[in-house]
Amino acid sequence: MKDISTELENRRALAREGGGQRRIDAQHAKGKLTARERIELLLDESSFEEFDMFVAHRCTDFDMEEQRPSGDGVVTGWGTINGRMVYVFSQDFTVFGGSLSETHAQKICKIMDMAVQNGAPIIGLNDSGGARIQEGVASLAGYAEVFQRNVMASGVVPQVSVIMGPCAGGAVYSPAMTDFIFMVKDSSYMFVTGPDVVKTVTNEIVTAEELGGSSTHTKKSAVADGAFDNDVEALAEVRRLVDFLPLNNREKAPVRPFYDAPNRIENSLDTLIPDNPNSPYDMKELILKVADERDFYEIQEDFAKNIITGFIRLEGQTVGIVANQPMFLAGCLDIDSSRKAARFVRFCDAFEIPILTLVDVPGFLPGTSQEYGGVIKHGAKLLFAYGEATVPKVTVITRKAYGGAYDVMSSKHLRGDFNYAWPTAEIAVMGAKGATEIIHRADLVNTDKISQHTQDYEDRFANPFVAAERGFIDEVIQPHSTRRRVSRAFASLRNKSLKNPWKKHDNIPL
Ligand code: HXC
Repeated sequence: MKDISTELENRRALAREGGGQRRIDAQHAKGKLTARERIELLLDESSFEEFDMFVAHRCTDFDMEEQRPSGDGVVTGWGTINGRMVYVFSQDFTVFGGSLSETHAQKICKIMDMAVQNGAPIIGLNDSGGARIQEGVASLAGYAEVFQRNVMASGVVPQVSVIMGPCAGGAVYSPAMTDFIFMVKDSSYMFVTGPDVVKTVTNEIVTAEELGGSSTHTKKSAVADGAFDNDVEALAEVRRLVDFLPLNNREKAPVRPFYDAPNRIENSLDTLIPDNPNSPYDMKELILKVADERDFYEIQEDFAKNIITGFIRLEGQTVGIVANQPMFLAGCLDIDSSRKAARFVRFCDAFEIPILTLVDVPGFLPGTSQEYGGVIKHGAKLLFAYGEATVPKVTVITRKAYGGAYDVMSSKHLRGDFNYAWPTAEIAVMGAKGATEIIHRADLVNTDKISQHTQDYEDRFANPFVAAERGFIDEVIQPHSTRRRVSRAFASLRNKSLKNPWKKHDNIPL
């Protein structure tokens, strides 16, 4: 028995070494942690239970039978984050560059299947040279098996990807189908074809960082939802995110203890809106003043800054935030902000997370670049996402809600449950000046008449009461009471039950 135990311990020790000390040192020298060190930081202390530690590849080409390291380049298993179960895979770059073989893929698929079956999130820590070159099509098949599981798990359990090294070629498509992608600054990159191929095909000279580094994907492409300075920070932020999420689509998000009175009054909000209706103000101030303990987890902070998305808690319960940001592009909707918010709304709806929408929107951004880029289809994504969402929806219009954008931003007509407006709200087809210039075109030459018409229009429409008279606004509320009103609204909606008609699936304008 003693011999067998020793044998087990020896085998375990060998497996834990991965590709050996030399390669571990090389990994550390790049500022990266090893696959196992990452898992330790991600999960609660001593909670990790490993699967398939002794799995080895079966490839016999290129003398591969002479190197069969235990684990085959990926560490898989489950553990807990603040006591709640998650499944995890962590690619080990020290073993064949973390490349994906047939057996490596089988290990990932096994824990994905278990995650779906047992209703717990899947977190993938990606650090891989892509398909195991020695295995050819068997590796490609392995990827496709993972992809298929990403699709089946979508909307069933949250899927989170952290890119902590290379992620190139078709390998990018597994993270791309997960709910959130985070990257580590300077040490991770994602691209479908690398700089060498780009140079050959298009003659462009570009570095890996420029092509697919974290800055590119958080600011330009919106492939990634956030970027962090190093492995330690990235993993800590994933833990923070998971705390906001339910384990699966049949459970509610966890309710955390809170030490912030739900009826807290914020008098400073009464002066948040500037006197000049065209001056910007920071919508994040409102979010932080409404949230429990000013805790806000922002998603895609660096992309389409004219809309803000993220999670807060109200009375300890997770709420998704979608808010126009007047500090950027006057808070208008455009292609990027519509895509960003639509995906977020759909995530919230899939996982039963209520949505708070804060509205100050002057309309859709005009221009050829928007129309040529398909703003009609992209704007429709957000409209569609709100329209199909059955989760509790509370909306507060702080200032402008003009035109189609009024309809889109979780209006009463899209089954908003509570639609509040501040007294400063202006709910109209468009701004007074633009409206006047169209309906009083004949008076355009007479500036006095035009300014009188503009004033008349403002007096008539630049307020929340026309909409409130029709019941499109349920109540005009004092800004200082927003946290109390919104918290009570969500509390009253905890047993909301709303179902869409049966369908195989919808046909959202992709
Ligand atoms: C097998 C690989 C490998 C791979 C790296 N290694 N990539 N082994 N298959 N795909 C091995 C190396 O041989 C080396 O082994 C070790 O991993 C570390 O690699 P280095 O090159 O020394 O590391 P580094 O300089 O950091 O460069 C990392 C890299 C580079 C940029 C990822 O290794 C690279 O370009 N690899 C090939 C990438 C690639 O073309 N993959 C296929 C893409 S196509 P030793 O023994 O020396 O430690 C694809 C299709 C997927 O993925 C399709 C899905 C549908």
